[in-house]
Amino acid sequence: MNALPIPSAGARLSGRTALITGAARGQGASHAERLASEGARVLACDVLDDEGKATAARLQEAGLDVEYLHLDVTSPDDWARAVDRARTATGRLDVLVNNAGIIHVNPLLDERTEDWNTTLAVNTTGPLLGIQAAVPLMRSGGGGSVINVASIFGVVGAPGYVAYCASKGALVALTKTAALELAVDGIRVNAICPGGVSTPMNEHEKEGGVIPQTPLGRRAHVREISGAVAFLASDDSSFITGTEMIVDGGFLAH
Ligand SMILES: NC(=O)c1ccc[n+]([C@@H]2O[C@H](COP(=O)([O-])OP(=O)(O)OC[C@H]3O[C@@H](n4cnc5c(N)ncnc54)[C@H](O)[C@@H]3O)[C@@H](O)[C@H]2O)c1
Repeated sequence: MNALPIPSAGARLSGRTALITGAARGQGASHAERLASEGARVLACDVLDDEGKATAARLQEAGLDVEYLHLDVTSPDDWARAVDRARTATGRLDVLVNNAGIIHVNPLLDERTEDWNTTLAVNTTGPLLGIQAAVPLMRSGGGGSVINVASIFGVVGAPGYVAYCASKGALVALTKTAALELAVDGIRVNAICPGGVSTPMNEHEKEGGVIPQTPLGRRAHVREISGAVAFLASDDSSFITGTEMIVDGGFLAH
């Protein structure tokens, strides 16, 4: 059996290019910082341009190779422009983190088709468009890693969150199908299912959201999700594809 090179800790992503959506703030900004600190050149993308530019500037000041790009994940044209930027900047794309997401609360019987469609467009169609745009460049570089940020609510239901749960459940299923189709290209595709994470997304939650059902008794810090993303982005996970990694403080262990 051929010996596998042992990835050098600290620079696991050296020479790699990573594109992260929803990276202006919250988990995406933390993923940008973590992947860049492991050596990647990061294209941090979002629709919040001011916040995204400020995040990229803060990370550049810390010596990290992070560039902000406007990318609405529902726009095929924006995807084409972002992947083009990777092509001109480094000639490669090794990691795609489909992290952008939205949420809203509505009882099932009051759910409006418009809100449902918007949620699926961002949370599910966005990652599909991203994979379609990224794969040719990834393939030309010999492979890559796609990480789709789903949720514990893509695995179990949550009253009031019908569109969100459906969008994330579909993303987990999309992940498995993409993994099967893209394995031949050396492209691994995995999902991460975070539990509660302290970000602007759950500021609206009353009574601590999922904390009472979380055995570790708290929400995750964004960096605790970034560690899992960096693992899936790196060669440390070279035999992992088509799976969902649960990072939930024990929520789903019940
Ligand atoms: N916060 C949690 O408890 C939690 C738990 C599980 C999963 N998630 C998922 O984690 C991901 C990151 O969320 P977060 O917690 O950092 O929340 P967040 O609201 O801070 O970040 C989401 C980011 O996505 C961006 N975004 C929204 N629509 C976009 C679009 N059309 N195109 C590009 N960017 C867009 C937003 O501008 C924002 O910067 C999401 O997919 C979310 O569903 C969050």
